[in-house]
Amino acid sequence: ANTLTVGELAEKLGKDASEIIKKLMALGVMATKNQDLDDDTIELICSDFGIEVEKEEEVDETDLNHYIEADLEEQLIERPPVVTIMGHVDHGKTTLLDSIRHTKVTAGEAGGITQHIGAYQIKSNGKPITFLDTPGHAAFTSMRSRGAQVTDIAILVVAADDGVMPQTVEAINHAKAADVPIIIAVNKMDKEGANPDRVMQELTEYELIPEDWGGNTIFVQLSALQGEGIDDLLEMILLVAEVEELKANPEGRAVGTVIEAELDKGRGSVASLLVQNGTLRVGDPIVVGNTFGRVRAMVNDLGRRVKKVGPSTPVEITGLNEVPQAGDRFVVFEDEKKARQIGEARQQKQIEVRRGDQSKVSLEDLFEQI
Ligand code: GTP
Ligand code: MG
Repeated sequence: ANTLTVGELAEKLGKDASEIIKKLMALGVMATKNQDLDDDTIELICSDFGIEVEKEEEVDETDLNHYIEADLEEQLIERPPVVTIMGHVDHGKTTLLDSIRHTKVTAGEAGGITQHIGAYQIKSNGKPITFLDTPGHAAFTSMRSRGAQVTDIAILVVAADDGVMPQTVEAINHAKAADVPIIIAVNKMDKEGANPDRVMQELTEYELIPEDWGGNTIFVQLSALQGEGIDDLLEMILLVAEVEELKANPEGRAVGTVIEAELDKGRGSVASLLVQNGTLRVGDPIVVGNTFGRVRAMVNDLGRRVKKVGPSTPVEITGLNEVPQAGDRFVVFEDEKKARQIGEARQQKQIEVRRGDQSKVSLEDLFEQI
């Protein structure tokens, strides 16, 4: 933001600096002539003199948020929920993800070669649900720390024979911090010693209280290993999704988040993206984090080539000039030149930030030696 000193402002307004200082005192600010004033204070003083300041909106061209337009209510339509599975080690997260995928994907979509792209989509009673199959903690911590919120609903897996454990609590905290609804999957119900009541009891401490006990948390008992209760869980996910009224505008500019990315020997930079709004198409000029390019090819979670994908859909793309990072945002541009320009500016900025950090470190090192 721009700043002016008291003296400079006085000159601009054709006033004496002492007049400005007086006004500042009236505002409870003791100032000298060389003091810097922030935008808000400048505006206050000007309005005090009866002068209206027209604020110059500072536009940061490299900020991707700048390109995200607000959608009109009538453009928004229902979109599938994006679900993350969390829970303590060994409580059955991977088994549950596999179980959901197998019961739903292989049955309905025979012939599809399932592909690991960090997320997959299934259909339950004709309604799509997207599951992130990155570890739940990573999805929350690394992505959220980078400002990306991709999850709509958290499934908290708790083994019925083990109960609430440290990472269960951690997961609860992450989900609560993200303000995401939690569904409890009480897993391993087939095991001897399974005690779902104990799990429910323990979770009351974290304000996760079943409906039967007067709360509003949904509990589903299941056995991920035997595929029992999976349909109930999916039904509950759709129920919660409906309550949440998850919407997106498929006609809007395509934006979303990187789920994972890597350098492939043959294909170059390969990135799994979750489209969160708009429709992503082959050929689209795109900026992804600090990388850019044009969407060369897209492959869905079944390993099939696709030409376009809408909101809440995971897809793997090639065509970026470098490998982005999980949690990076992406935005599609109308023309390639603009995408290149913004992408290069972002790369340059990143290089400068890195350099800045290095010089800071070396300066500290220097002081340490002294
Ligand atoms: P991490 O990724 O290590 O945190 O574990 P996880 O939560 O992904 O657990 P995983 O799915 O790997 O399951 C751990 C063990 O529990 C495996 O031996 C599974 O076969 C077993 N298991 C998972 N679900 C069930 C279940 O419903 N019943 C029984 N009996 N065993 C289960
Ligand atoms: Mg696992």
